Amino acid sequence: MLALKIRQSEFHRYLVPVDTSSTQQLFTDVLIIGAGIAGLRAAIEAGSKSSVTIVCKDGIEQSNSWNAQGGIASVLGDEDDFESHCSDTIKTGCGLNNVEIVRQVVRKGPELIRQLLNWGTEFDTIDGKIDITLEGGHSHARVAHAHGDSTGMAICKALVRKVRSMPEVHIIEKFYAIDLITGDENNCLGVLGCNGGGHLQIIWAQNTILSSGGAGRLYRETTNQPIATADGLAMAFRAGAVLRDMEFMQFHPTTLYIAGASRALITETLRGEGAILRDNAGRAFMKDYHADAELAPRDVVSRAILSQMLKTNSTHVYLDIRHFDKSHFSKRFPLISELCSSFDIDVSKDLIPVRPSAHYMIGGVKTDSKGRTSIKNLYACGEVASTGLHGANRLGSNSLLEGLVFGQITGELAGEQAAKTELAIRKYPRMKIPIPISDRSRLDTADVLNSLRSLMWRNVGITRTAKPLAEAQEIIHFWQRYVADKVFDKPAGWECQNMLLVAFLMALAAEKRTESRGVHFRADFTDTDDNKWKKHIEIVKGE
Ligand code: FUM
Repeated sequence: MLALKIRQSEFHRYLVPVDTSSTQQLFTDVLIIGAGIAGLRAAIEAGSKSSVTIVCKDGIEQSNSWNAQGGIASVLGDEDDFESHCSDTIKTGCGLNNVEIVRQVVRKGPELIRQLLNWGTEFDTIDGKIDITLEGGHSHARVAHAHGDSTGMAICKALVRKVRSMPEVHIIEKFYAIDLITGDENNCLGVLGCNGGGHLQIIWAQNTILSSGGAGRLYRETTNQPIATADGLAMAFRAGAVLRDMEFMQFHPTTLYIAGASRALITETLRGEGAILRDNAGRAFMKDYHADAELAPRDVVSRAILSQMLKTNSTHVYLDIRHFDKSHFSKRFPLISELCSSFDIDVSKDLIPVRPSAHYMIGGVKTDSKGRTSIKNLYACGEVASTGLHGANRLGSNSLLEGLVFGQITGELAGEQAAKTELAIRKYPRMKIPIPISDRSRLDTADVLNSLRSLMWRNVGITRTAKPLAEAQEIIHFWQRYVADKVFDKPAGWECQNMLLVAFLMALAAEKRTESRGVHFRADFTDTDDNKWKKHIEIVKGE
């Protein structure tokens, strides 16, 4: 492990002044920050043991989980077995998976998916069994889907229904979590946030579960929802948690590319079911790059597309599904069918323009096998966490599975532990932490964010080299000088502060890792260097 320390003097511990005497306060046993698959699953587990408050930044349906298309991977087929799912996950992870975690997640999958079915998730079935499909990197068909390409929505709807039926679970929407509150014993006491009415609020909790999602919005090109602004990563870092593998951002090979329109995911299940990638001359090029062609791991496909775009001097490539049965396609992929129609793309005649974009943050808050972080009473699960399942590259559809499994594990532990704690010892401190007024000029945060997202795409993107990575840190550091010391009163300002911080950490880790491994590709160090780099990079706030 390579441990990096970032000086505390570079940023304030809290983004806004903390004053318990003038801030509204709520109390809960278990606080869950984020309502994707991991947070919802955690709420169900913890809510059967103690009182739970689940906060989400926007409406409950605004999450990357909700928008997941392809599916959830698990051993559900007669031909498949745990060993095979584990070995595909480990092979894709390029030497950095935690094998024990891989086993734990893979083994728990089928049972937790059956539970989802019982809670009303309408998985697609065939002859009475869950229909499973093949995706890149999987040696067997094992991806369950629901309503065709609306798997995330179908799962989250069932989980939300279940959560809403539990009297001990209280949902607060439009609550922006600003900072985790920590005590003197390296322990988490809850969160300071801003409620829908624009007022600061503190939620004190016995245990806090961070399930706030990823960081795709750091990039100009992304499949992620607007909420994915790295808030949880930044909050955890400021609170002193160890972050790990921040250089590993996974790029999805196929995002719909229509100039001027916002990017939209085109599920890789299409390639699993026979879609072909073609360049602008109509040539199927994937065999030039990998024997598995369209079914090669995502990082290989993303880089192949980028390289083919450069060779053919084009802004995108195409996905060809003209040979698909049209009525099967519209039933199996209703979302994509509607999306293509809305841009007048007739998939039986036209090619679909696509290019890669930032998709999934593999790195995150370091946890152990129970989802515990390096801060007492703080757990992490879902995309914000680094559990060790994915290693240096994530196998498609393993993320919903990870969220489900670690949601269950963290919810169980946090709920049980909170229920055991005597009410008498639940004391919360009085706090008054001011922030000095900054005399530096103020930059326009919207401008900074536009520039940051372009910078990340150019300098910390699919292909990286030393100089642009170092330059990215310099530029971000410059912006930070005019943004980090300000006190904002709206989410846009806090998001900008969070995104600058996390972008800096990602560029730093990417510069340090002088090799190529998994999703991290260095054009100046193209080999995987097991002697020097078969290890994680951990980053923590220092003195
Ligand atoms: O292509 C997809 O449907 C994405 C799946 C995933 O990221 O796991």
